[in-house]
Amino acid sequence: MSVGDRVRIEARRAAWAWGEAFAATQFALLRFTHRDAPIPLPVWQRAARRVRATTNRRELLVRSPSPTSAQQARLPAPLAAALGSTTLGHWSLDAETVRWLWRAGLRDAPRRIVECGGGVSTVLGACLLREQGDATSGHLVTLEQDAAYAAALRERIAALALTPWVTVLDAPIASDGNYRFDPAVVLDQLTGTADWLLVDGPRESRDLTVPSLAAVARTGTRWFLDDALDAPYFANVEQWAEWPGLQTDGIVAVGKGLATGMVTNPSAATAAVLGR
Ligand SMILES: C[S@@+](CC[C@H](N)C(=O)[O-])C[C@H]1O[C@@H](n2cnc3c(N)ncnc32)[C@H](O)[C@@H]1O
Repeated sequence: MSVGDRVRIEARRAAWAWGEAFAATQFALLRFTHRDAPIPLPVWQRAARRVRATTNRRELLVRSPSPTSAQQARLPAPLAAALGSTTLGHWSLDAETVRWLWRAGLRDAPRRIVECGGGVSTVLGACLLREQGDATSGHLVTLEQDAAYAAALRERIAALALTPWVTVLDAPIASDGNYRFDPAVVLDQLTGTADWLLVDGPRESRDLTVPSLAAVARTGTRWFLDDALDAPYFANVEQWAEWPGLQTDGIVAVGKGLATGMVTNPSAATAAVLGR
């Protein structure tokens, strides 16, 4: 390799490292300023513009938290016991998002939860419900796209004696990229409308998840979307900020970004899905 080639490679490497460091600093500053609160989308958009203007980096402020063993994740005791040595943050929710949701759950005390994409989040939701009452007053419905994964998840939940709090529904992906599910079945399992919607799936696209789940929500249902700083999901959150019947509060600076907001008018939100 010529000296010129080596210099070019080193220059590219330095530019990449500078971009990563600058983006990480922007993320850390936002996190320091806003702490645990959702940060409004325009604030993220301005930070991303600063990164693009100052570096070669084109992505949003994504940081990929290193996968951690749940044993090392400083989790509250009930969760630590249930998750054992599970790896957090690869396919699943990462450790800080798990801790954030646990705190939010103890504060909001949701009794009915619907989630998209099961796994660690299912254990988290079930432990949260168990912590706050028996199964007669709390239930989690998981929409899961992969039948084999759903069966394994049911076994995992049974081994933890959490089955009374959880229903894992097979919800294959329809041609529009959305889960195929019957809102009436979800409402029946929940015995009412959802207090929380937690979206961490499907693998393919999440663009209609929260709008479609408004069919099982009420005014005031809180929604969450994990991985919200990944460009396609950030675009979904921007879209939902304009969606009839939905309110977007912003993205919390944990993990790869946890977007949150509320359903303000369930029928307007679901009608807009049909109009697409
Ligand atoms: C982002 S994952 C959902 C993770 C889940 N909410 C959690 O906290 O563990 C979305 C979907 O990917 C699939 N999935 C989960 N783990 C996987 C793995 N290790 N490899 C491939 N697909 C996986 C499942 O179908 C899941 O519903």
